[in-house]
Amino acid sequence: MPELRFNGKVAVVTGAGHGLGRSHALLLAERGAKVVVNDLGGALDGTGASTGPAAEVVELIVKNGGEAVASADNVATPEGAEAIVQAARDAFGRVDILVNNAGILRDRSFGKMSVEEFDSVLAVHVRGSFLVSRAAFPHMKEQRYGRIVNTSSPAGLFGNFGQANYSTAKMGLVGLTKTLGIEGARAGIRANAIAPIAWTRMTEALLPAEFEQRFTADRVSPLVAFLAHESCETSGEVFSVGAGRIARVFVAEGPGWRTDDLSIESIADNWDAILAEQPYVQPTTLGEQASASMKAML
Ligand code: NAI
Repeated sequence: MPELRFNGKVAVVTGAGHGLGRSHALLLAERGAKVVVNDLGGALDGTGASTGPAAEVVELIVKNGGEAVASADNVATPEGAEAIVQAARDAFGRVDILVNNAGILRDRSFGKMSVEEFDSVLAVHVRGSFLVSRAAFPHMKEQRYGRIVNTSSPAGLFGNFGQANYSTAKMGLVGLTKTLGIEGARAGIRANAIAPIAWTRMTEALLPAEFEQRFTADRVSPLVAFLAHESCETSGEVFSVGAGRIARVFVAEGPGWRTDDLSIESIADNWDAILAEQPYVQPTTLGEQASASMKAML
């Protein structure tokens, strides 16, 4: 396999001042992409702001012989999102790749979670990914090419104690990814999501110490780069990734159970059949799901 490169391509990576985003930006730049390194530069909980983290990553890219510009705009506001995409267009004339990676945490058990803690996490992850994609989408559509990689999480796909806000946001990104994949298809836009695990400031207090050496951010970024490459035509998929392992995560519907005499009791009597997983189907659109259900109903 010849080296997969990004010469002539322009990438925007949000939240690229630290952790995973930084690693994605460095790899894309090393492989020839011109990169907008966006980072608001705040704390893990989203408070504060600084131009430092984005500027430092740009400095490193340039020192390594790459091309990059910094943006300290906030992904969660329409003006911030527009400014991030405009930075790509001003500096490099286009935007081909968008990696929605910016994120914050406000963990709290559900009974104690405030409305502000819920809203602020959804604002960065879901609203932020929507807004920056919304700013980039028309340009990708016009050039009939684009690659969008969203950042979900195993916490969203499978649930996690203390993360009602975060898991709602991260599963929301799966829906956004699937619909972007469908709506972008005809314009050559592919959208996928990763559900990573890596040792970063977000997880260092949560992961066992021995994870630090194995679960490095650079053992996630090659998947992001592959999904961002023109040779990857896959769209609407979600991949679990960490420590060099990658697996597809898919949403499936079991064979189901049907009756002409539906009652609360018949449901109770057939609960095991309703819970059955095999044989399952994996619809890739609402239409496919509806037609699979119709078939089972007739
Ligand atoms: P991190 O805290 O090192 O990086 C997140 C970056 O996003 C920070 O540099 C932060 O300043 C930036 N950011 C936050 N709010 C922003 C805003 N409104 N506008 C622009 N930038 C903003 O954490 P990490 O681990 O690198 O996280 C990256 C992404 O990966 C996040 O979406 C996170 O939820 C996700 N993730 C990480 C996992 C892990 O194991 N590290 C697990 C699952 C998901």
